[in-house]
Amino acid sequence: MGSLTLGIETSCDETAVAVVADGRRVLSDVVASQVDLHRLYGGVFPELASRRHLEAILPVAEEALRRAGVTPGDLALVAVTRGPGLVGSLLVGISAAKALSFAWGLPLVGVHHLVGHIYANFLDGPPPEWPAVCLVVSGGHTDLLHVDEGGAVTCLGRTRDDAAGEAFDKVARLLGLPYPGGPALEALARGAEPGGVTFPRALLEPGTYDFSFSGLKTAVAVYLERERAAGREPPLASVAAAFQQAVVEVLTVKAVGAAVALGVPRLLLGGGVAANRALREALAAAAQEAGIELRVPPPRYCTDNAAMIACAGYYAWREGRADGADLDAAARLPLADILPAGRG
Ligand code: KG4
Ligand code: ZN
Repeated sequence: MGSLTLGIETSCDETAVAVVADGRRVLSDVVASQVDLHRLYGGVFPELASRRHLEAILPVAEEALRRAGVTPGDLALVAVTRGPGLVGSLLVGISAAKALSFAWGLPLVGVHHLVGHIYANFLDGPPPEWPAVCLVVSGGHTDLLHVDEGGAVTCLGRTRDDAAGEAFDKVARLLGLPYPGGPALEALARGAEPGGVTFPRALLEPGTYDFSFSGLKTAVAVYLERERAAGREPPLASVAAAFQQAVVEVLTVKAVGAAVALGVPRLLLGGGVAANRALREALAAAAQEAGIELRVPPPRYCTDNAAMIACAGYYAWREGRADGADLDAAARLPLADILPAGRG
């Protein structure tokens, strides 16, 4: 059966536990979403999130073992998200991971959530290969990263204001769509054309790999207000399509541009927004044209899950990393600390 990793992820509003063999073969991947709870508030309500994690974590872990058909005695290690994220939520996963690893006599490895999103690319697929440029686009992050041959990571650029997923969520709200807005906005935009609607692309000053999405969100708000003030009903599907196109174009130009400029032969995508089909298609076309290999996780591994945490934790463990009982939650966490040199 190989080395089995139990992965645990509770950084935001998903309680997730997975069992992964040899770092990449997913035996089970259980995600208990709290979306229905937080929809009432139009976003994640941190206190309620940690309470719900506390109720869900052990049943979800039992379900993950059951679906994988394994017992605790079969496991080799426990991997858990240590940050960044909501501290109260992270603490639930970390406490559970500590208790289980102690009770079962297993090593414990803390994983950076964004590193998890990068490692989602290797689940049920070929092993890690570096160097790579990685674009992580989630509700909290829009980071363009470079991983060198040895696995050391540097940040090429990041958003200066809203994350890409946050922009999707906020614009979805303006369009009257439910939380989380990304999938709802994509569905509304599907099959629609921007028509005459266009929004600005914030490419910022030449040479920067930073992003900015708050101006785009404001442009959508202003457009909707202006149309309504003029007594016109705005074409919501076209607005959604035009907004999505603006986000996709900026992400694509910068990510593929970085790989080309740095002479890096591959581009990895990760994070919830990576589930967006328009983004996947645009990146695939641009990467192909530039002769760059593009890896994109299946949509279910783009949004938060514990299989990606198990994968990253396994490779870190193979590099000799392990954490002790002092492992703590970190709302913010620098990336360079964590990324293991994922060799084969
Ligand atoms: O990675 P993730 O599950 O959680 C965070 O770590 O933030 O990402 C969630 C974000 C939300 O903002 C959600 O609206 C966005 O990813 N998202 C999408 C899509 N699916 C999820 N955005 C655009 N298109 C999608 N299909
Ligand atoms: Zn995430």
